[in-house]
Amino acid sequence: MTTSNRVYNFSAGPSVLPVEVLEKAAAEMLDYNGTGESVMEMSHRSPEFQKIIDDAEQDLRDLMNIPDNYYVMFLQGGGTLQFSMVPINLLRNSHKADYVLTGNWAKKAYEEACKFGDIRVLASSEADKYSYIPKFKSEDIRPDVDYVYICYNNTIFGTHFNEIPDVGDHLLVADMSSCILSEEIDVSKFGLIYAGAQKNVAPAGVTIVIVRKDLVGFAPANTPIYLDYKTHASKGSMYNTPPCYPIYIAGEVFKHIKRIGGVTKMHELDVQKAQLLYDYLDQSKLFKGTVAKEDRSLMNITFVTGDPDLDKKFIAGARAEGMINLAGHRIVGGMRASTYNAMPIEGVEALIDYMKRFEQENA
Ligand SMILES: Cc1ncc(COP(=O)(O)O)c(C=O)c1O
Repeated sequence: MTTSNRVYNFSAGPSVLPVEVLEKAAAEMLDYNGTGESVMEMSHRSPEFQKIIDDAEQDLRDLMNIPDNYYVMFLQGGGTLQFSMVPINLLRNSHKADYVLTGNWAKKAYEEACKFGDIRVLASSEADKYSYIPKFKSEDIRPDVDYVYICYNNTIFGTHFNEIPDVGDHLLVADMSSCILSEEIDVSKFGLIYAGAQKNVAPAGVTIVIVRKDLVGFAPANTPIYLDYKTHASKGSMYNTPPCYPIYIAGEVFKHIKRIGGVTKMHELDVQKAQLLYDYLDQSKLFKGTVAKEDRSLMNITFVTGDPDLDKKFIAGARAEGMINLAGHRIVGGMRASTYNAMPIEGVEALIDYMKRFEQENA
């Protein structure tokens, strides 16, 4: 297979990875850096792997300007385990937290947190099918909450917080699974940021947790050892066998982003891609975007024709032209084009070209 056989994969995750990274991983598959073994086979206690994880952490710190008073951890369990680890570790004083419901992932996080404390919905757009980011004021937050929780980019619905919400002096926690490294983020405004890797970072299997150091160490004494951030923070993500291969690929993706000019450049490219598609949607007579314009995601672009049968025809036709995984999430239907960091602009151009032809033929 050559790169010319590759499809344009608009999957919401696991998703497209940079070809340059895949090629390097392929070249190193049997012999990583003269070791005569694959990273898949390598002891996580070897000096070679220690360098891989140390470099990955440093490169992520450089890319996101992560201050020294934050831990960076590479964990397992996906975004889903963070739905539990966040409340277990951060409900440490009042055992109260306020959650903003902007989609299914935020709702799942909320439901999980309800098992551990006094959790309240601060704002929600559930009644309007999560088609916008609900507004709230910092005064609406209960004064004694341990944290406020948001999902920064809503993968299923295609919405995004286009600015960091004002939570006053409260601690802000954000799920950035589907937007990490696509925009510059002031990490110091957050107590904790986490992201499952399988969108912008690596294959599934590793979850990045960035947490302010003073917040770690308050999990209840009966917390299972893996679920306590302290376990991982004190051992450099090596308390147990880490997800070595996804960490290696994450490290290569970080190097790749550095090479192309860092997160600023990545963001510029992501805006360019999303703008092309949104501009087309805004003038189309057939396709319609499904969310409030001011809350549109750069990463997950959702749209419909209004006719579910026509949507199906569109998705099948796209697949036949080598553009795959354009179906919306099963709970919303329609279409979703995920234009993550590694999606080349040519993929978006090919999609728009197909949309134009489809519109002419089906108007
Ligand atoms: C924003 C967001 N959070 C959490 C999750 C759940 O992640 P995981 O499947 O890694 O548990 C997803 C999955 O797509 C997601 O998009």
